[in-house]
Amino acid sequence: MAGAWAVVVHGGCKPIRPDEVEANRRGIAAAAEAAADRLRSGGSALDAVEAAVRAMEDDPIFNAGRGAVGNADGVVETDASIMNGDTLDIGAVCALQKVANPVSVARALLAEEEVLLAGEGARRFAAARGFELQEMPPRPTPAGGCDTVGCVALDSRGAIAVATSTGGLGGAPVGRIGDSPLPGCGFYADSAVGGVSATGEGERIARTLLAARLIQALEAGAHPHDAVQATLARLDRIGGEAGLIVLDAAGRIGWGFNATQFAVGWMTAGDEAPQVEIAGLDAAGSGGGSRLS
Ligand code: GLY
Repeated sequence: MAGAWAVVVHGGCKPIRPDEVEANRRGIAAAAEAAADRLRSGGSALDAVEAAVRAMEDDPIFNAGRGAVGNADGVVETDASIMNGDTLDIGAVCALQKVANPVSVARALLAEEEVLLAGEGARRFAAARGFELQEMPPRPTPAGGCDTVGCVALDSRGAIAVATSTGGLGGAPVGRIGDSPLPGCGFYADSAVGGVSATGEGERIARTLLAARLIQALEAGAHPHDAVQATLARLDRIGGEAGLIVLDAAGRIGWGFNATQFAVGWMTAGDEAPQVEIAGLDAAGSGGGSRLS
């Protein structure tokens, strides 16, 4: 729909303790609102997804930025990505230390030829671009695991963007990189088709190219909800847990997961407030939803 905007965010598919449910809901709503603030004033999808992911990186309830877990050495190493669906420009960083908002470092990389900077190279790039380098104490790894945050947005000019950020898997080997900074695995955006952000077991998501498969399903004409279900079924061959949020070029929203719980929220131009769902809170197993804007 011309002129309409839409946004969908996730805070990871992960087991959520009862005493953390409300904090997850608040965090998802705040992230969706941060994106919606940009979109309703005519801001770009890129600005919207960066704002939403920064909000979740600043919220210690999520495993990203300030809430990131530590690796096997107890050190925080983060991965983040952002993609412009108009130009197909990508900025991504991985195994980045000492930066509170890795998604903004990824955003700074968008204008450069390089797609992905790792470790010391990413840290030097961040420092050269004026990002504060600071100690990042790791959050204790939650029982049952932890995951990723992400946002997909469609702006009023029809541009789609996606951003994803994670502290990775708690206790993972030093230098381990998951799906979140890998295009076609943890994210992808093409304004002519749609955008997707993934969460879940990075090694499984990478081996099944979940984001690329999802985009292919949209290109073949699937509704986002059906595309999510068909894409998650790709995991059946090797096992693994994942969640996906999707927006297509028509502004239709879909999401789904095959894990315990999935924190999602979405909002479109006609909505007064974001809709937030901690999917699977009451019943484990596959789930998902969609929204026709
Ligand atoms: N999905 C985040 C990771 O595996 O690192």
